[in-house]
Amino acid sequence: MKVSEAIKNRYSCRSYSDKKVPEKLLLDLLELANQAPSAANQQNREFIIITNKENKKYLAKMNNQPHLEQAPVVILATTKLSHETVADYLKLLENWEMTVQGIAPDKFKATKEFEDELKEMKYKWMIQDVAASIENLMLAAIEKGLATCWLGVMDFQGIIEKFRLPKNVVPVCLITLGYEKEPPKYRTIRKPITELIHWEKYQ
Ligand SMILES: Cc1cc2nc3c(=O)[nH]c(=O)nc-3n(C[C@H](O)[C@H](O)[C@H](O)COP(=O)(O)O)c2cc1C
Repeated sequence: MKVSEAIKNRYSCRSYSDKKVPEKLLLDLLELANQAPSAANQQNREFIIITNKENKKYLAKMNNQPHLEQAPVVILATTKLSHETVADYLKLLENWEMTVQGIAPDKFKATKEFEDELKEMKYKWMIQDVAASIENLMLAAIEKGLATCWLGVMDFQGIIEKFRLPKNVVPVCLITLGYEKEPPKYRTIRKPITELIHWEKYQ
């Protein structure tokens, strides 16, 4: 299947059959998910695989969305605050710069402004690491004849407690995965791309 076909065929599936997803297939999909780019190749994404009926029921009730219970697999995607201080993160970036560009460590000096900016950016990058992998997973799933749906987390504290996330692990989103019960009744439409494009500057 061509990538463009997978992109066009993907839709948010909210009705799943009982057919189980083989574990090997699930692991292959996650492997492909992790081929996505990530900030400084940190792959700051971890996945909790949820197949237990009671756990899925909990999620369905929490989000008030029955397909969370119906889907054979739900993936809780998380990201980790693994570098507690900005200094730690800068160190990592220094090493990264060296490896990729062959720059000597003393050539990479962060300004105060950069440190401040990094504090803010760090959190945004973490989410992007996860998001990129989710899209990979969804497109790979299409190729394997599976369907998915991306869901936001509604009750962060509830999820943290229920799935025993450590303090530095942040829940990002849920993905339902399985075989569709029936084809979608309708497909969502997109805005004309010209409405979303700005050439060179916004206005
Ligand atoms: C961040 C995010 C949160 C979403 N949350 C939900 C959700 O809670 N429940 C749901 O059924 N779909 C959810 N979706 C799926 C969107 O509704 C869907 O992608 C959009 O309507 C376009 O339809 P399509 O995916 O079928 O092309 C979410 C998608 C994203 C990216």
